[in-house]
Amino acid sequence: VLLDEAYFEFGIDNPDYPDSMKYRFDNVISLRTFSKAYGLAGVRIGYGFAHENLINNLMKIKLPFEPSGPAQAAALAALEDMEFLKESVALANQGRNFFYDLFRNLNIPYLESQANFVTIILESEKQVNQIYELLLKRGIIVRPLKSFGLSNCLRISTGLKEENIIFAENFEHILKSM
Ligand SMILES: Cc1ncc(COP(=O)(O)O)c(C=O)c1O
Repeated sequence: VLLDEAYFEFGIDNPDYPDSMKYRFDNVISLRTFSKAYGLAGVRIGYGFAHENLINNLMKIKLPFEPSGPAQAAALAALEDMEFLKESVALANQGRNFFYDLFRNLNIPYLESQANFVTIILESEKQVNQIYELLLKRGIIVRPLKSFGLSNCLRISTGLKEENIIFAENFEHILKSM
């Protein structure tokens, strides 16, 4: 059983957020990444925990290549930098609340999350694609969720405060123009 906990750190303050480190069964592997709350997607590094026997078996087939030295150094430094992690989690919280207010004011239904994104529910796949393209033309990338089986949904990642404002202004402008 593989548990993908890519967004784990964003749920740190929520007692209901599951923590697979508590499921220490022989057949569980927990995967986490430095790509999200740690802000290190560019260096391509993550980590996993599992029972020793499982890891020993994985080692038999694992390719010999490791993440680069600088990537490993960055990851170790990130684990020490609790201040950055706190700021990153707080920024995502603020971003989600900002987007909730925005979408509530625009009467657009949305799905709350515990991560660094908010999903909005639009009228149709056509509308999703139109908004996606128009945002792209303005240099803003969002994620249509057709591949997740949610063809009328669009996922918006939170960014810096000023980036969230830029999104909001452009999104409102596009909605008005449609
Ligand atoms: C659910 C989930 N798991 C894993 C990943 C991948 O993380 P990484 O950048 O470490 O490959 C992502 C990133 O988009 C994700 O959304």
